[in-house]
Amino acid sequence: MTTATPSIPATNVERTRVGKYDLGKTLGEGTFAKVKVAKHIDTGHTVAIKILDKDKILKHKMVEQIKREISTMKLVKHPYVVQLLEVMASRTKIYIVLEYVTGGELFNKIAQQGRLSEDDARKYFQQLIDAVDYCHSRQVFHRDLKPENLLLDAKGSLKISDFGLSALPQQFRADGLLHTTCGTPNYVAPEVIMDKGYSGATADLWSCGVILYVLMAGYLPFEEPTIMALYKKIYRAQFSWPPWFPSGARKLISKILDPNPRTRISAAEIYKNDWFKKGYTPAQFDREADVNLDDVNAIFSGSQEHIVVERKESKPVTMNAFELISLSSGLNLSSLFETKEIPEKEDTRFTSKKSAKEIISSIEEAAKPLGFNVQKRDYKMKLQGDKLGRKGHLSVSTEVFEVAPSLYMVELQKNSGDTLEYNHFYKNLSKGLKDIVWKADPLPACEQK
Ligand code: ADE
Repeated sequence: MTTATPSIPATNVERTRVGKYDLGKTLGEGTFAKVKVAKHIDTGHTVAIKILDKDKILKHKMVEQIKREISTMKLVKHPYVVQLLEVMASRTKIYIVLEYVTGGELFNKIAQQGRLSEDDARKYFQQLIDAVDYCHSRQVFHRDLKPENLLLDAKGSLKISDFGLSALPQQFRADGLLHTTCGTPNYVAPEVIMDKGYSGATADLWSCGVILYVLMAGYLPFEEPTIMALYKKIYRAQFSWPPWFPSGARKLISKILDPNPRTRISAAEIYKNDWFKKGYTPAQFDREADVNLDDVNAIFSGSQEHIVVERKESKPVTMNAFELISLSSGLNLSSLFETKEIPEKEDTRFTSKKSAKEIISSIEEAAKPLGFNVQKRDYKMKLQGDKLGRKGHLSVSTEVFEVAPSLYMVELQKNSGDTLEYNHFYKNLSKGLKDIVWKADPLPACEQK
């Protein structure tokens, strides 16, 4: 007699695994990349993974730019910049593993609450200048600074994301200036629009000035219905102040939104500005942190070393509390209502804190020497005895269920064959599984009689 099978959804949940990460939902999608949330299978650490399609990169001759982007992100280690953790590649994709930032976009805050208070705007601007100036000191320029690229962490601090258009010194021409127009027009400096060659640092500071204006005004300083009209306003730095705009901030922004990059205020001068200085404390961090570019070089050299595969895998079925209680002999509620004898057990359960994969392979290794042929499918196994027993061949099925994060329950059930032979098999199998079992059912009832 077999005890009732719990009502467990029949379908297994599918998930995609890349290297040691399980991919989750999409956080954002652009022309060349998709960003997904992911979880490390051993540590449970959550990350964001930027996924690039190798074909698209090759087609658009962007290999060098992407390599630069990745190297750039590795060079930058600052508390207000999204950290690049590692890089992986499959045959068709590049995976950039990034620090996961949980507070959403700073832009959303403005969209939801409108303009920020003077103190809040100043705090984010101080963090922005701190991070941008640090990047500039490492010859790294962002060139696409805008509120959408400014994320907030769990503590509400700024995290600059997406150095996709940043450039390292290689991109300088002989005149020592950057060439390539890019970026979002509303935040772009006049010299970038005119493409007369520009310094990445002063162009980024212009964008910081536009950002500060947006944080305090709640709208853009330069906004026109046509791109030409917008460019005209930007060249001339033509904008107006809303009446509430504090004079200290007006003075500073006027010095940043100077259309002439040569006379525009520098970061060093911003640090000395009275409005900026109020309550400013520079971020504390290790400026000498080591940077290793081996993984970046390996994935672009065609080496197999960092090649990973993207696999679709099914996840063990998850059990809810009711299903668990109905299974557990220790908490067997049926005994509260029923007085009949416990039936002879032909199914057995144990729990394990090992991963589902380890559990499956341990069962396989333990069952084979006992003369069992093993068939596996996802998180289910069928073990078929090769010896003819009293009631034919012994056949046992197993399934792994996730009962809590990192806690699995394994159910073994006799499909056919003699129960005593099954009990004997279970006893021997248990010996082979002693390293993975956390808590096990007592031996099947008939063995105890
Ligand atoms: N969206 C884009 N990049 C992200 C990140 N690193 N963390 C959270 N959301 C993101």
